Amino acid sequence: MRLKTLRLQNFRSYQNLTLTPPEGVTVIVGENGAGKTNLLEAVHLCCLGRSHRTNDDQDMIRRGEESAAVQLFVERRDGTHDIGVRLFLNQRRKKLLHINGKNASRMGDLIGHATCVIFGPEDLSVVRDGPAVRRRFLDMLLSQLQRAYFYALQTYNATLRQRNALLKEIAQGGSRAQLAVWDEQLAQAAAPLVRLRAQTARALDEKAFRHYAFISGREEECFRLTYQSTLSEEEPQVDMLRQLAARREEELRRMTTAVGPHRDDLLLTLSGNDLQAFGSQGQLRTAALALKLSAFDLLNESQGEPPLLLLDDVLSELDPLRRRRLIDRVKTAQVLLTCTDRSDFIGAEPSCVLEAGNGQVIQI
Ligand SMILES: Nc1ncnc2c1ncn2[C@@H]1O[C@H](COP(=O)(O)OP(=O)(O)O)[C@@H](O)[C@H]1O
Ligand SMILES: [Mg+2]
Repeated sequence: MRLKTLRLQNFRSYQNLTLTPPEGVTVIVGENGAGKTNLLEAVHLCCLGRSHRTNDDQDMIRRGEESAAVQLFVERRDGTHDIGVRLFLNQRRKKLLHINGKNASRMGDLIGHATCVIFGPEDLSVVRDGPAVRRRFLDMLLSQLQRAYFYALQTYNATLRQRNALLKEIAQGGSRAQLAVWDEQLAQAAAPLVRLRAQTARALDEKAFRHYAFISGREEECFRLTYQSTLSEEEPQVDMLRQLAARREEELRRMTTAVGPHRDDLLLTLSGNDLQAFGSQGQLRTAALALKLSAFDLLNESQGEPPLLLLDDVLSELDPLRRRRLIDRVKTAQVLLTCTDRSDFIGAEPSCVLEAGNGQVIQI
């Protein structure tokens, strides 16, 4: 996929900006706070409908403004796609989507028109922090792989919220009569998530250990990942109903749903040992890169063309050999790469170098 034009209006530090990156690697240099990540965030917003670093859309609106807009033109094998997102400071106004000349109302309408994989300093959290970050990693990847997954996830989350609300009502003396219906609905909504996540985790696992070995240069270190759920891939719905029944009293006491894909995790191991417990900083970093590279491969294979690659300040953390290996793995893609120091992109062979600062981006 080829990004032709990126347009920002009152987006974070930018009042008005148009970028037309060429094929290959576009490097964006600038000091800390220059607005480099803001540009990648804007691309991410158009690909996935949300920021990669904040849950609060309003953060992305330039301070003092009422609204922000981002527009992305991409060229793909099936033609051009024009994606626009407008955000409003007024929390009551939903974000507006504009896709190929038409207004769209559902976030699912946006997903899949442009796809990206972002590598950044925050990736370490995928291998270091709690299960929620890994679920989000899987959910974002799967949503880009299959729009149906995104809808299934929305259905599950909405059903879960309603069931949790019902548990609260019951705890306050409400009737239990509706609970069985919600159990059924939740179990039904859980099934596609469990199946698709388990499949995708296997596909990632097959790739990630090779990427890990390649980047680290250590064949003897074996990086593996497995999807962990209390629900089986074969009969998730049956399992879920059984487990919900077994934990009914506990759920009523805690007023929250104790079983389901919202509790699942990805187990990461290095040569059989729990990576989180035993991995060094360097090993964690390599594992995070291997995961992202695997996500890149899956998108590339399923779409028949590489997704956009956003590399945010990652090269400076790698030694020259690993840097070259990373670039080598992704050279088929169009890349936007940020760094603070010009020496950071040696080996990246950029087709264009830009400098960010003062709400502007200039070619240098
Ligand atoms: N909503 C906003 N309105 C105006 N400026 C913002 C907004 N959000 C962030 N900024 C500014 O953007 C800059 C940070 O941009 P960022 O892209 O994260 O920098 P970096 O180049 O280090 O990646 C800071 O100067 C910050 O003040
Ligand atoms: Mg940054």
